[in-house]
Amino acid sequence: MAKMNDFHQFAEYHRPIIEAYMIDTISFSVNDERRKLEHAMKYSVQAGGKRIRPLIATATYSMFHRDVSPILPLAAAIELLHTYSLIHDDLPSMDNDVLRRGLPTCHVQFGEDIAILAGDTLNTFTFELLADRLPLYFPAATVLDVIRRFAHASGIAGMSGGQVLDLIGSTVQASESYLFQTHALKTGALLSASVTLPAILAGASPSELTVLNLFGDHIGQLFQIVDDLLDVTQTSENLGKSAQKDIEQNKLTYIRVFGIDATRELISKYIAEAHACLDSLTNFDTVVLRSMVDYIGDRQA
Ligand code: IPE
Ligand code: IPE
Ligand code: MG
Ligand code: MG
Ligand code: MG
Repeated sequence: MAKMNDFHQFAEYHRPIIEAYMIDTISFSVNDERRKLEHAMKYSVQAGGKRIRPLIATATYSMFHRDVSPILPLAAAIELLHTYSLIHDDLPSMDNDVLRRGLPTCHVQFGEDIAILAGDTLNTFTFELLADRLPLYFPAATVLDVIRRFAHASGIAGMSGGQVLDLIGSTVQASESYLFQTHALKTGALLSASVTLPAILAGASPSELTVLNLFGDHIGQLFQIVDDLLDVTQTSENLGKSAQKDIEQNKLTYIRVFGIDATRELISKYIAEAHACLDSLTNFDTVVLRSMVDYIGDRQA
């Protein structure tokens, strides 16, 4: 494989591999009414998306090892779990969205009942996938630690806890700390896990892990700040999801608390801090991750 020195090149090579692996793993060959559930899961997974989390996971692991195939199950699991979070995020009782990844949302296409179950099934399946496949490549104790951390990042201390803070954010007194915490949990936890967990499996040292943890936290916050910005600056067509939703639903966003200009300054600050973390990893080739940070900060969709 040629040396990749740019995130786009890296993504172009690895994205199809991750996508094929995900579809293969959620092909259950059921021959009864449960086919509808499998269709709904595949519909949301195949709809597309940037695949930023599995690409970050792969890029992080590739700093330690040339052969990235052992990290595929984790990369896929993170994206499958993320897709579940999107299906549930769009439900009428949550953000009530009709457009996702350029297509009607899962509940619009399959009904709310099946969409809830498709999310549930993607969620639990990720843990089955990890328990099945990671022990083929890594020691059982390390796998157990990674699974525990992944569940932690997805639950009350991470994504779903953050979604609760988000849902009630429109009713609380707007504060910077509440906003930071919401974003750190609902989006940051999974983004950060996409860096930390591959590093643990790759055998990172404690000091390397400390830096990568911080790096993950920075790009997690950065990713959701940019998401808040794009909600007000882009069209639904470009985003593949409804624009202007946050204002409509009075969400607590960086735009609401800081305004557009200060939000842009914060984006530059987080980019610089993420780059600084990478600079301190002097023994590693961090070119792809550096370019990934630029992409996350500058993305238009
Ligand atoms: C959207 O995530 C939800 C957030 C956590 C901001 P992405 O912007 O990664 O969505 P996809 O996966 O590319 O569709
Ligand atoms: C969603 O945040 C975060 C998740 C955990 C899914 P948003 O509600 O801002 O995501 P979008 O804008 O609908 O993609
Ligand atoms: Mg939401
Ligand atoms: Mg939403
Ligand atoms: Mg959003």
